[in-house]
Amino acid sequence: MTDCYAVFGNPIGHSKSPLIHGLFAQSCGQDMRYEAKLAPLDGFAAAVAEFAAAGGRGANVTVPFKEEAFRLATELTPRAARAGAVNTLAFNGTTILGDNTDGAGLVQDLQHNLGFALAGQRILLLGAGGASRGALAPLLAAAPRQLHIANRTAAKALALARDFADLGPVSGGGYDSLAGRQFDLVINATSASLSGDLPPLPPDLFAPGALAYDMMYGKGDTVFLAFAREQGTARLADGLGMLVEQAAEAFLLWRGQRPQTGPVMAQLRQA
Ligand code: ATR
Repeated sequence: MTDCYAVFGNPIGHSKSPLIHGLFAQSCGQDMRYEAKLAPLDGFAAAVAEFAAAGGRGANVTVPFKEEAFRLATELTPRAARAGAVNTLAFNGTTILGDNTDGAGLVQDLQHNLGFALAGQRILLLGAGGASRGALAPLLAAAPRQLHIANRTAAKALALARDFADLGPVSGGGYDSLAGRQFDLVINATSASLSGDLPPLPPDLFAPGALAYDMMYGKGDTVFLAFAREQGTARLADGLGMLVEQAAEAFLLWRGQRPQTGPVMAQLRQA
């Protein structure tokens, strides 16, 4: 019997997940179906319950339901517990396992696809919302020299740094904390790109040979990547690789097999 999976979000129309998982299933020879489902803003839990009752085996969860999925799960992987958010659910009888593959997807994209070894590097994470929280444990596990979080609301960056201080050398502050400092990797995890805004970043932020990484993706440079390019940064990456890698991690959880991501990334770039 064909196994059914879905991604739940609101909005969901532009989700690339059905295409990505369709390509994974094809390349791995797995008999599965994957569709996008629009959940009402006040009806996420009911939509998931209905899908599981109809035989659904697992689901991805996207904006704005990741915290609600965290609460819905009856069991959590350690990385989901740390992230406080869930992007992957697996149904097994009455058990709902919640995982978070976003951070692992980011680190896999950085280290494997982009060849950026994180160990010993100075990392700057912009933003202190859910996207940053999900990335922190996997980033710190890669043993950077330092990980600084800068956020418009400084108190949120400081609180986040405190929450993860047991995992490595992490600090936080407002954008004013960046004056005179340089980083080898700057990751934009704010939602500022969505509205075409750029956080107030000082010049000379990027160390020679630094990588600028935006978790957002779209046609052409995001405002953050355009800024990095203007500053003379030659290594730039958007979040498409992270999207495909987090999907591969979810696929692995569900199907016990990690699909090849390179060909899927190439196909998405072409489209
Ligand atoms: P997500 O789950 O995508 O991280 P979020 O939890 O709403 O979304 O967090 C959004 C992040 O982007 C926050 O760090 C937010 O800063 P504040 O905590 O100060 O609100 C940041 N952000 C959003 N718009 C921004 C802008 N125009 N300039 C700078 N930071 C912005």
